[in-house]
Amino acid sequence: MTVRRTDGIRGTDGTAAQASTFAQVLDAAAGPAALSPSSHNCQPWGLGRATSARARRAAADLTGEDAEEYLVLALDRGRELTALAAHAVEMVVSCGIYWRLLLRGLAAQGWTAAAVRVLEGDDGAGPDAASRLGAGWPAAWTPLCVVALRPGPPSGEHLGDLHDTALARRTHRGPYRPEPLAPGLLRDLEEPGTPEADGGPIHLRHLTEPRELRTFAAFVARHGGRDFGHRAAWRETHSFVRRDAAEAAARGDGFTLDQLFGRLSRPRRAAMRCALAPATMNLLGRVGYHRVLAAGLADIVRRTPAVVTMGFAGQATGRADLLRGGARLADYWWRATRYGLSLHPISIVIQHDDLRDRLERELSLSGRTFFVSRVGVAGPSAPHSHRRDDAATHVVI
Ligand SMILES: Cc1cc2nc3c(=O)[nH]c(=O)nc-3n(C[C@H](O)[C@H](O)[C@H](O)COP(=O)(O)O)c2cc1C
Repeated sequence: MTVRRTDGIRGTDGTAAQASTFAQVLDAAAGPAALSPSSHNCQPWGLGRATSARARRAAADLTGEDAEEYLVLALDRGRELTALAAHAVEMVVSCGIYWRLLLRGLAAQGWTAAAVRVLEGDDGAGPDAASRLGAGWPAAWTPLCVVALRPGPPSGEHLGDLHDTALARRTHRGPYRPEPLAPGLLRDLEEPGTPEADGGPIHLRHLTEPRELRTFAAFVARHGGRDFGHRAAWRETHSFVRRDAAEAAARGDGFTLDQLFGRLSRPRRAAMRCALAPATMNLLGRVGYHRVLAAGLADIVRRTPAVVTMGFAGQATGRADLLRGGARLADYWWRATRYGLSLHPISIVIQHDDLRDRLERELSLSGRTFFVSRVGVAGPSAPHSHRRDDAATHVVI
């Protein structure tokens, strides 16, 4: 992934020198943030930096803060997954992961949030916030959150550590070592990175008891094939499967079959490509192929030492909750990576309301579950996934 240089961008009112410095800071923070995980590696985020008088005035009004710099997080509607209603949650959570890492990277360099305004859409700011930000704001971007930033003391976190962890973190879909994870380590992962001041807490639970893990694996075996048999959902998923690493690199998104199923021989890869094509999947689904795939997934789940679940306190979730959920997930995944642990989300079990309700009941999970993942020590390193260029995700407005 190349990092776009934004040096030399002119700020308003002769602030060119300051703008240039902040542009470098932003570039450095955007590096690790861009490596954030997202559903199907769709990277639905966009980032606007307000430099024009109009955009800065709008951002100042929205945050109520007269600050040196303003950034706006967006959901890029041109990139969001839409086949399932639950994807709306995953999209904002994915944006929240990116945003949290960006803000951590900025704080590490001494740029702290003086004020943050989440644009809920129904609070009078949402729908017209885009037009207030000016003509440079991309038409397909929904503004989610504005931050007013001020220079101050650095947070104490090293940007290099954030970056190294971002490079080491990967979704590992293969088997994990079956030995139990140390209880102290799990307790540490359960601690929130920052006090959860606003809104309800995020409920985080580790399933480690053999009985719970068996229940979860059986649930995956029973229901894990739902998306393979769901035409629209599978067509959308399949549109992110790249032919090979070269195509994934060129497009900067999605995943390869080797990332999904481990290293494959050439004939096996060709057979899988054929089997997973939506038309074939539709036919094979009639003879229960999706149940075979679910059984394979359940088998891997059964041999996993821990599963993490995260849930919102209440059933009704606004953007602020979703972004907080993403922030918590970012902190969790980064900390787990530093402990040498890997994650493999199993979102199928919460992507349909009836399944999510049943899972919450069967495992007595509190609140509204928004993330479920295997956690453990993975085998050989998984191939890294690709990212879009910053030029496609950043605008100066
Ligand atoms: C909210 C969320 C849900 C995800 N759900 C799944 C999932 O159900 N199955 C899966 O294999 N990966 C899932 N992933 C992982 C993404 O596919 C992965 O982050 C993306 O392909 C980029 O790869 P990387 O994590 O290795 O960088 C999920 C990621 C996020 C953020």
